[in-house]
Amino acid sequence: MNSAGYLIPLLLFLLWPLLLSGFGSSHNPSVVKIGALLTYDSVIGRAAKTAMEMAFSDVNADPTVLPDTELRLIAKDTNCNVFLGSIETFQVIEQEVVALLGPQSSSIAHMTSPIASNLHVPVVSFAATDPTLSALQFPFFVRTAQTDSHQMAAISNLIDYFGWKEIIAIYVDDDLGRNGISALGDELERRSIKISHHLLLPVQVESNEIIHMLNESKHYGPRVYVVHINPDPSMRIFRIAQELHMISSGYVWFATDWLSATIDSLSPNDQTAFEILRGIVSLRQYIPESSNKKAFDAQWNAMRKKGLVNSEVNAFGLCAYDSVWAVARALDQYMKDGGNFTFSFSDVLNDLNSSSKIRFGNLKIFGGGTTLLGKLLQVNFTGLTGRVQFDSDRNVINGGYEVINIDEKAVRTVGFWSTRSGLSVSAPPVEISEHQKSYSNQDQKLHEVKWPGGSAEKPRGWIISDNEKPLRIGIPNRFSFRDFIMEEHESHKVQGYCVDIFKEACKYIPYDVPYRFEPFGNGSFNPDYDMLIKMVADNVFDAAIGDIAIVTNRTRMVDFCQPYASTGLVIVAPINNAKENAWVFLEPFTAELWCVIAVAFVMIAVVIWFLEHRVNKDFRGPPRQQLVTMFLFSFSTLFKKNQENTVSPLGRMVMVLWLFLLMVITSSYTASLTSILTIQKLSSPITGIDSLIASNWPIGYQVGSFAYSYLADSLFIARSRLVSLGSPEEYERALKLGPIKGGVAAIVDELPYVDLFLSKQTEFGIVGQAFSRGGWGFAFQRGSPLAVDMSTAILKLSETGKLQEIHHKWFCKLGCPDERRQSSEASRLQLVSFWGLYLLCGGFALASFVLFLTRMIWSYIRYKRQQKAASLALSSAPPVNRCPGFVYSFFNFIDQKEENTKRSASSDPENHH
Ligand code: GLY
Repeated sequence: MNSAGYLIPLLLFLLWPLLLSGFGSSHNPSVVKIGALLTYDSVIGRAAKTAMEMAFSDVNADPTVLPDTELRLIAKDTNCNVFLGSIETFQVIEQEVVALLGPQSSSIAHMTSPIASNLHVPVVSFAATDPTLSALQFPFFVRTAQTDSHQMAAISNLIDYFGWKEIIAIYVDDDLGRNGISALGDELERRSIKISHHLLLPVQVESNEIIHMLNESKHYGPRVYVVHINPDPSMRIFRIAQELHMISSGYVWFATDWLSATIDSLSPNDQTAFEILRGIVSLRQYIPESSNKKAFDAQWNAMRKKGLVNSEVNAFGLCAYDSVWAVARALDQYMKDGGNFTFSFSDVLNDLNSSSKIRFGNLKIFGGGTTLLGKLLQVNFTGLTGRVQFDSDRNVINGGYEVINIDEKAVRTVGFWSTRSGLSVSAPPVEISEHQKSYSNQDQKLHEVKWPGGSAEKPRGWIISDNEKPLRIGIPNRFSFRDFIMEEHESHKVQGYCVDIFKEACKYIPYDVPYRFEPFGNGSFNPDYDMLIKMVADNVFDAAIGDIAIVTNRTRMVDFCQPYASTGLVIVAPINNAKENAWVFLEPFTAELWCVIAVAFVMIAVVIWFLEHRVNKDFRGPPRQQLVTMFLFSFSTLFKKNQENTVSPLGRMVMVLWLFLLMVITSSYTASLTSILTIQKLSSPITGIDSLIASNWPIGYQVGSFAYSYLADSLFIARSRLVSLGSPEEYERALKLGPIKGGVAAIVDELPYVDLFLSKQTEFGIVGQAFSRGGWGFAFQRGSPLAVDMSTAILKLSETGKLQEIHHKWFCKLGCPDERRQSSEASRLQLVSFWGLYLLCGGFALASFVLFLTRMIWSYIRYKRQQKAASLALSSAPPVNRCPGFVYSFFNFIDQKEENTKRSASSDPENHH
């Protein structure tokens, strides 16, 4: 190697630092400009501007960050004006800034972000919290403040925690308000909570508009308000609410972090705001205590004492401070990686110069913008607000919120919220993660909250009505079956079974429900119940009570409470009531069978006589006696009471077969008679819903009832077959006429009406079982909390037996319809069922008695005649005995007759053994 070979590396080694510094000075500019857009005279702006200035001075003083480069702030006052903010965005970018801090307002950010994206200038906002700014539409938008999507999750978690189901949202009608409340709506929906009313405030709102809006809202059901507006140091909305007595017991107010930022900015001596905010719950970005923050606070206090700042610091001010540091660290890394600061004109913008007086062509694209954005998204340091690190949506990773409650003259922290733990009394963990962790609802906890009015008891959160505006309850003004519900014609008093149940249930609701009944229908026919339900859904009525069936198409429109009565559709058709037929006992067998049975008895009598009378003395005697024995024997086999025994082998065999036949006949008779007496026989071929559908005959239904749409739409019965009937009288007439003569084959109606109808009818009955099961309930507007409380009340009524009591009061004056139904279904027979048999028996007994008497009298007369003849023959001899009278002679005669009979029996040689 020659000397030159050693010299070159040696020279390089010696000159290396010099070369490096020379290149460094050419790459690292001595000044890097950063733009800022904010509203100087605002709650956030005042704190943010000072904080940013402090951050710039801290960065420039720190030798470890951008050692040879001065960061210079180019700030513009947007004055909360989107138009001004847009122009100022151009003005700032024109000055070759490498990043933009702000804008403070979400609406301005929506304008600034596309401009900055096109010119490749990262925008780092410390206060624009609109969640939609995270969209891919704004790739250069990075945010050090918490996005409102987290804040809205926290608010909805709070509402859910306290169990409210409906809220009123008050918000500013701009990007911040609308998009924030849209995120809240999504979060609430996941928890089945509803924003029932949206109250929008113009950006420049007048006090009288707020007064009008709040006064109106007093009549809405919910009393839980969420206020999401821009920070307002005068807190006008709450001042007005207080004047309208709305920051008082019964009301719930949530405010997003605009309120905490405003309170934090107030001077410690300014206590007046606390008076009007008592009981309000708000969120504040959670900022963990740290030595850096303490030092910052101390520095701020010192400046305030010197009169250098005109505000206290708030969370957004701290975010602004951290934003500067995030940009500085990203720039530092950018420069270390050799990034340069070249700005170039855009051809597209240059072309605009020729067509416009506005010099858009002066705008340059930052060549390293995309790389710097990448560096920015990689920063990871501990700032004043905690960990500064960005997630995939370019938002600072969520550090959680403090839940604050304004009480007496102080702000109390009642808990914390974070994506990891939900609501908790302990501060969010230091180790924060980008990914949301699931937490169980059981773990949710908060310290005691003091609500408006000073009570720690959770307000109900809604009012159903007040005396000024009572609940409008629609009731069906019925024409028939008015015991269920009716309006009296003269007094207009509403009463009935359903009204009693409603009134009784109201006693179990733990608050007053002022209401007013509004009859629906004119009372000359039953109203359409579907229409009544629709009117509840359409807010014509707040609720509807009555004999309203809970059916699917109605549950889609309104909320029903628990059913208070079980119902179902049944078919009513004409029946033959066998139990009322006096000759029912003949019905089990046909006339032919009766004849065959009679012939069989005669035949058996004759056959047995033939087989027995030679060998069996029981079958002997005078012919008349034998005839009697023969038939008595045959008939008494029916009851196994025959006194004569069969002795011949053939006779015994015949008897065995005959008794077997008798057993079969009697058991068949018993079974058949039982079924006739216990089962009602239909006089029409309708046996159930299938045969009714198949019959093609007209079917009756009650006017206004859901039965019509059920039959037509669910069972696909032609509407032309459906006949509307308005009253029990019309039911009776149509059923009696029958399908041929212009009536109906059957009626389909709900069981309670049918029970009442049948309680006065014997010619009709229920065919088969109920073919749809359901119940009656009260209808409320969708989401009405009263539906839930009414359900609980109905359950209590049921448990205490009150439901049954009310039912008895209305429908059991002559026995309950359902009990009557059950007892008639059981085989309880009445005298009328057997009067034919009684008539036969009684007639026969009487006839026998009369025959007996006649024979006795006739014998007596004959005896007397004989006596007289004998006495005439012996006329000379005086009578031995004088008859004491007719009665004496008659009984004397009978005694004599009996004695003669006994004597002749004892003298009969056959009777001697
Ligand atoms: N109870 C008559 C109906 O609900 O349609």
